[in-house]
Amino acid sequence: MDNQRDIQEIVKKVLEAMNGAPVPASSGSSYSAPAASGAVPKTAHVAFLTALEKFEIREYPIPEVGDDDILVKVEGCGICGTDAHEFRKDPFSLIPVALGHEGTGEIVKIGKNVKVDSAGKPVGVGDKIVTCMIFKDNPAITMFDLNKQNVGGADVYGLLPDDDVHLNGWFSDYILIRGKLGSTFFNVSDLDLDSRILIEPCAVLVHAVERAKSTNILRFNSKVVVQGCGPIGLICIAVLRTLGVETIVAVDGNTKRLEFAKRMGAKASVNFKDHNGIEALANAVKEACGGNLADFAFQCTGAPGGHSNIYKFIRNGGGLCELGFFINGGDATINPHFDICSKEITIVGSWVYTLRDYATTFDFLKRAQGIGLPIKELITHKFPLDQINEAMGVNLRQEGLKIAIVNK
Ligand SMILES: NC(=O)c1ccc[n+]([C@@H]2O[C@H](COP(=O)([O-])OP(=O)(O)OC[C@H]3O[C@@H](n4cnc5c(N)ncnc54)[C@H](O)[C@@H]3O)[C@@H](O)[C@H]2O)c1
Ligand SMILES: [Zn+2]
Repeated sequence: MDNQRDIQEIVKKVLEAMNGAPVPASSGSSYSAPAASGAVPKTAHVAFLTALEKFEIREYPIPEVGDDDILVKVEGCGICGTDAHEFRKDPFSLIPVALGHEGTGEIVKIGKNVKVDSAGKPVGVGDKIVTCMIFKDNPAITMFDLNKQNVGGADVYGLLPDDDVHLNGWFSDYILIRGKLGSTFFNVSDLDLDSRILIEPCAVLVHAVERAKSTNILRFNSKVVVQGCGPIGLICIAVLRTLGVETIVAVDGNTKRLEFAKRMGAKASVNFKDHNGIEALANAVKEACGGNLADFAFQCTGAPGGHSNIYKFIRNGGGLCELGFFINGGDATINPHFDICSKEITIVGSWVYTLRDYATTFDFLKRAQGIGLPIKELITHKFPLDQINEAMGVNLRQEGLKIAIVNK
């Protein structure tokens, strides 16, 4: 018990240091959360992926909320590339499945044992939360154990096999968070809905930049290339800019995305389609970096050719973070002599995030908006739950950046 209190005290101190503001004591919430809106209905609606390229809205009874559980009224959830992969190919063999892992909503019922979130912050009815990983094998894990450990091997709501509860994904109007499953979650009542929908993808980049920093090559005055300006590359630029990195060069083949990259903090952009051959492209990147090759590069495309190219943009002794291949996109050709060995390149891979990265992400979102980055404009389309098939179509046709389901 004393040990538990010590841990809470440490969590509180660290969060205060991170936030620059006192965190309320865990012996009772000292801030007033907004009251939960309306009574809880008897049934919930879940967008179930019942076959390839087919969501169906199913209705299920809302079960009893156990002592360790939280019932959340879903407000919104972003569509991720992983959802698109599931929709088209079901690579994880989950169908029928309740998808949606970039979700957020308001607590409407809470079990008597749930007093604080995974960072030790008090929670109650009316608070807005996001979920992070589910540690089935080690439910007692804390965010401090996880500095070294990433999500690989853990589960998340929105990619769970169906069960008798069914309320397992954020593409729904209610989701049941179960304590006994080893769920982790955060109270993010101080962030608005759009920011909360962006937490999960932003945590991917907070983690990638932490991985890059571990090389000791990335510094605030580094020249940095970000290759690929989809949501992932654009958020990467915002994280770097928020850290104080000034010379960021964005590389993509899409003019609109390159323009957005500049608004997000890139100093210059290079359209790879304007340059014939890797030598010409590398020269354009060098020029955009101010006459020198980059100190560090982030590979944010899922294109094998992108991986092959990026070494040519990096100086001798520079660093590379490869994060574009969340799924197997095939093999890439490199020349080990020219690209790695003789240049002494330091390479790190980055895969999703740790619990600790989530806490950093909340700060990142506030700071990015504080310095005027248009982070919320990443959400280009919003659809109600019953139009999820249409929303997925817009996502697959790459007509926007982040597409979100937002409940009425
Ligand atoms: N590491 C992780 O944990 C993690 C998490 C989420 C996503 N991802 C991966 O990150 C990648 C990017 O995600 P996204 O949502 O931004 O995808 P996206 O498809 O929207 O964006 C990719 C961008 O790369 C550009 N591009 C393609 N080939 C290029 C090339 N040769 N040179 C320069 N630009 C090129 C495209 O024009 C596009 O704008 C995906 O492949 C995804 O799997 C990784
Ligand atoms: Zn995602």
